[in-house]
Amino acid sequence: MPPWGLLLCFLALAAYPLSALEPVQKAFDQPLPIPPLMTGTRAGGETIYELTAKTGSRILFQDTDTPTYGYNGEYLGPTLRLRRGDQVRIRVHNSLEETTTVHWHGMEVPGPADGGPHQGIRAGAGWEARFTVDQPAATLWYHPHPLGHTARQVYMGLAGLIIIEDETSDSLGIPKSYGSNDIPLVIQDRRFQADGSFSYGVTMPDLMHGLVGDTYLVNGAIKPALSVGKELLRFRLLNGSNSSIYRFSFSDDSSFAQIASDGGFLKQPVGMSTLILSPGERAEILVDLQNRTAGESLFLITETFQGFRDEVLKIVVESEQSDSGKAGNPIPKRLTSIAKIPEANARKTRHFDLETMGRGGMGMMGGGGLTINGRKMDMRRIDAEVQAGSTEVWELFNTPTGMMEIPHSFHLHGVQFQILDINGKAPPSGESGWKDTVLLWPGDRVRIIIPFREFPGIYMYHCHLLEHEDEGMMGQFEVVP
Ligand code: C2O
Ligand code: CU
Ligand code: CU
Repeated sequence: MPPWGLLLCFLALAAYPLSALEPVQKAFDQPLPIPPLMTGTRAGGETIYELTAKTGSRILFQDTDTPTYGYNGEYLGPTLRLRRGDQVRIRVHNSLEETTTVHWHGMEVPGPADGGPHQGIRAGAGWEARFTVDQPAATLWYHPHPLGHTARQVYMGLAGLIIIEDETSDSLGIPKSYGSNDIPLVIQDRRFQADGSFSYGVTMPDLMHGLVGDTYLVNGAIKPALSVGKELLRFRLLNGSNSSIYRFSFSDDSSFAQIASDGGFLKQPVGMSTLILSPGERAEILVDLQNRTAGESLFLITETFQGFRDEVLKIVVESEQSDSGKAGNPIPKRLTSIAKIPEANARKTRHFDLETMGRGGMGMMGGGGLTINGRKMDMRRIDAEVQAGSTEVWELFNTPTGMMEIPHSFHLHGVQFQILDINGKAPPSGESGWKDTVLLWPGDRVRIIIPFREFPGIYMYHCHLLEHEDEGMMGQFEVVP
């Protein structure tokens, strides 16, 4: 079970330089930035999107600016809104001075469109992903995936959200107005150098624990504020950090309802007052502010298991927007139907040991260290051959290593799966829908059932703590006809 606090002792291993930088904005003074919505342009039966990865800079601190990367802008990228059934063409241009790729995390697409390490885009070059959107409404995201350089490129700012809409999302009586009551929240943490630049230097403890920062960014801003009406709010939360596991809550311990996990809506809303997301995971939640008093405010709190706790976003209930007298907007009782995949459908079971120390012992620099089944990523090696359209059970094990207890976050490309059990027990309701990433605490055994798609191609599976991924905690499966 979540060893919150159990890993505190390892905090001492990592040095967290406290920057003397003064934020250019007073805390909770600036409005929450909302990534622009990109709905694409229609041409020849396709919906076309354009992304350019480029360098930029952002003013976060006084007397200095922070060099950044972004898609179409200086930091993060537009939110791509896709429609189920659409044929999509995404044109990517790389204006960076290094190779990148763009991976659609959570999308069920053919291997060549996946944007993994095999689809490198050299500096100055372009790439196109073409696929048909064929999965339920969900909040997904996109980010770079070049072999060994994913973590730093994401850290510099390359990430964006994808929203898929379908008939279910159309028909539900939930907030849908993007940026006003349907609000994307990309939560990240960063460390900064004295000159305001991102401090991406990976030390030995960073490699083990993943790089954990001391300053939170929400949609790229430090401590922004959001003004809302007395209404029902929908937040689309992405843990966009490199390696931090976040526990979210509200300052007044408000309860909220989780309505979606990684791959789309849950069967029904799940009430809770804290929510844990590991790197790469998403959740949609509804927060009911209809009975609040104008002028009231609350804070979104983010906590890491290393003990960092901070108010990252202020939510202010504005008086003007209150729709007094209007009947309340209820939270729907049912959201969608999800057929449970019977275990008997699986034609194969595979085992994956996520190892922090490797079989070779302590060596972080040598062959040991972060591995899956004792092996590090090799582009020329296919680790698992999967029959197109077949269903498999994958048993994941976060191998205990004695002194170093490190969580991992396991992700597969090109599929959405269901969790069968966590340490022999059924998953909590919030994790019993579609998932593409799952957290494993030290010692956890998680069994997932995966309905693979028909698309042939090569896909990655890996730890989504990006420092671990870059260090080789990744493997490849090939879907074969
Ligand atoms: Cu979020 Cu391999 O990716
Ligand atoms: Cu992915
Ligand atoms: Cu890991």
